[in-house]
Amino acid sequence: MTEYQTITGDETVIRDGTIKLHGPEAFEGMRRAGRLAAEILDALAPMVQPGVTTAELDDVVRQMTLDGGAVPATLGYRGYTHSCCISINHVVCHGIPSDKQLKDGDIVNIDVTPLLDGWHGDTSRMYLVGDVSLKARRLVDVTHECLMIGIDQVKPGARLGDIGAAIQAHAEQFRYGVVREFCGHGLGRLFHDAPEVVHAAKAGTGPELRPGMFMTIEPMINLGKPWVKLLSDGWTAVTRDKSLSAQFEHSIGITEDGCEIFTLSPRGLDKPPYA
Ligand code: MF3
Ligand code: CO
Ligand code: CO
Repeated sequence: MTEYQTITGDETVIRDGTIKLHGPEAFEGMRRAGRLAAEILDALAPMVQPGVTTAELDDVVRQMTLDGGAVPATLGYRGYTHSCCISINHVVCHGIPSDKQLKDGDIVNIDVTPLLDGWHGDTSRMYLVGDVSLKARRLVDVTHECLMIGIDQVKPGARLGDIGAAIQAHAEQFRYGVVREFCGHGLGRLFHDAPEVVHAAKAGTGPELRPGMFMTIEPMINLGKPWVKLLSDGWTAVTRDKSLSAQFEHSIGITEDGCEIFTLSPRGLDKPPYA
């Protein structure tokens, strides 16, 4: 049995397994956090070039987040000490910024989560470094299609499993692997909350989607098999077969007749090419 909890605004919100249902002020808070998150990803577009280090990009994310009146939710989160995650090529997610330089042909995911006035805006996009192979660009394009096809399922009365079913069907049409170990999630006052939004599922299963739910959808799609492994740093997830992996993420809120995407690019830079 799924439990829902209506958030009125003055209660303490905890991770108790309930799905939170939010009102208009919460939507406004998420809109502001989501817009800042999207603006940060917009600003990074011209900086993602051969030779830049991922630590330099992380510095920009931290500074822009603070300048926007927010804090990076990842900073200090379960011992993580950076302002974003940067995942290159066969890194599936949670790549740790370092002095590694980007190089021509890389595909890179940057995932940011500003916490603004108590609300989390969680979003990621892929970036292409210099000249990228056609097969890598197709993976990136299809992964963005997977995200948007998943979002298309979201409306009151649909079920959570409809999202993963649509994403999985689209990805597998290209013989790509859908990562199972990491999911989208409820969010709002909390960074990671119920429900778990899996990206491979059966249509018609899972909790009913209701107005006021906030969640991320963030499919990770591999050129090869879906299998991942965790590196010894405890964070970096990579494909077991070393195949390329791509991911896009939006934060959304369910409305009376569909959903609102909080993290759309104000400049239309939702997917590459950005030039
Ligand atoms: N932003 C990631 C997500 O989409 C979570 C990163 S947690 C970190 O849920 F600690 F790895 F940064
Ligand atoms: Co997320
Ligand atoms: Co994220």
